[in-house]
Amino acid sequence: MNTILKNHAMIADNLAVNEAGHLTFAGQDTVLLAEKYGTPLYLLDEDRIRARCREYRVAMQKHFGEGAMPLYAGKALCITHIYRIMREENMGIDVVSSGEVYTAYHAGFPMERAYFHGNNKTDDDIAFAMECGVGTFVCDSIDELEAINRIGAQKGICQKILLRLTPGIDPHTHKAIATGKVDSKFGAAIETGQAEELVSAALSLANIELVGYHCHIGSQIFEVKPFVDAARIMLSFVAHMESAHGFRAKILNLGGGMGVRYLNEHPTISYEKNIALIAEELKAMAARLSMPLPTILMEPGRSIVADSGMTLYRAGSVKQIPGFKNYVSVDGGMPDNPRFALYESPYTVVSAARMNEEADFVCTVAGRCCESGDLIQEGVSLPMPRRGDVIAVLTTGAYNYSMASNYNRIPRPPMVALSQGEEKLILRRETFRDLVQNDL
Ligand code: LLP
Repeated sequence: MNTILKNHAMIADNLAVNEAGHLTFAGQDTVLLAEKYGTPLYLLDEDRIRARCREYRVAMQKHFGEGAMPLYAGKALCITHIYRIMREENMGIDVVSSGEVYTAYHAGFPMERAYFHGNNKTDDDIAFAMECGVGTFVCDSIDELEAINRIGAQKGICQKILLRLTPGIDPHTHKAIATGKVDSKFGAAIETGQAEELVSAALSLANIELVGYHCHIGSQIFEVKPFVDAARIMLSFVAHMESAHGFRAKILNLGGGMGVRYLNEHPTISYEKNIALIAEELKAMAARLSMPLPTILMEPGRSIVADSGMTLYRAGSVKQIPGFKNYVSVDGGMPDNPRFALYESPYTVVSAARMNEEADFVCTVAGRCCESGDLIQEGVSLPMPRRGDVIAVLTTGAYNYSMASNYNRIPRPPMVALSQGEEKLILRRETFRDLVQNDL
């Protein structure tokens, strides 16, 4: 095996190269899948998603105790099929809009295991989520607490609530996805006393049952320390509120955010090891404070689905600008993956049918939109691309389809789930008719 193959294989163990020199994903030939379903095409390794759910669930129950549960953060990939998987894997879910609530409900997900997030739920959102039986709302403002209380009273519901707090942690990630700092639009800061004000307000409202606290410090975080620090701050807040208000939190939700490998140089994270470290710290602290550990929840999104996804394109124009750079354009781009345009996110890109060839053509992989920022990645090494080559972008399971748009009136790609050697279309390709269906 040459170094190129070795390097690709190292990114995730669901990648390999077959005898034809084609990239395989979850054991299936990606070039054949591109031929069968057309491009652009999203692939999903369903068995790996299930394995990740189990890794979180088993590790959390082992280290935090029986009631601990991971909630899959659907914003990473929200589609009916994923909620069926989550139901079967006994996961909880984090939902952030009525659209996500509807999708989960429609998939038959048991909604008492749904946690409804969002920094600005409308009255309609609140009413709809209550009608769908959403178990717990996560709330971070007095306005919203009052709205939930009022709507709960009209419906005869005493709504379970977690309060979203900001522990004031800098998680060392991209600024657009760091959320646990005091100046964040999310959460009520512990540091400023606003968190405590929310606790008093929640305890005073008749149609609200305060069950605990939530924090989420950010996304794509490789270190474990920020999580441990946040957990510690949250547990000491639990203790403080018990002594100040006589309220003992039953639940502590530590959010999501663990990183995944997009590039070879990224570290491999053991989620189980991180969970064990956080648990060790929390258990020692609970013992010191002579209090029981609340039920611990976590909300992984990216680390459940990212490396279970891949996008296949076909190369089109190849443009060489002597003395400057080279471009290869593909038949998708920012409409199906806006993450480079938004965050300059790194991705590994390969030529799926030519894995054994020397990758010595350094280029920028560009999308097809009328926008110069529509790029997938810069500084990619490929074998000299030819029109029609299948180009695979790895690790696209999280925040790709869920952030997709129809910019330039481009239909969104289909998605095929791969499981135990079988394949299943779980999202059909949008048609031109779909594009005009809301036009009056
Ligand atoms: N819980 C809450 C409250 C969140 O806001 C998020 C992500 C998660 C859980 C899941 O975090 P994860 O485990 O996926 O890191 N669009 C950006 C990511 C935004 C993340 C927003 N919140 C991206 O493409 O990188």
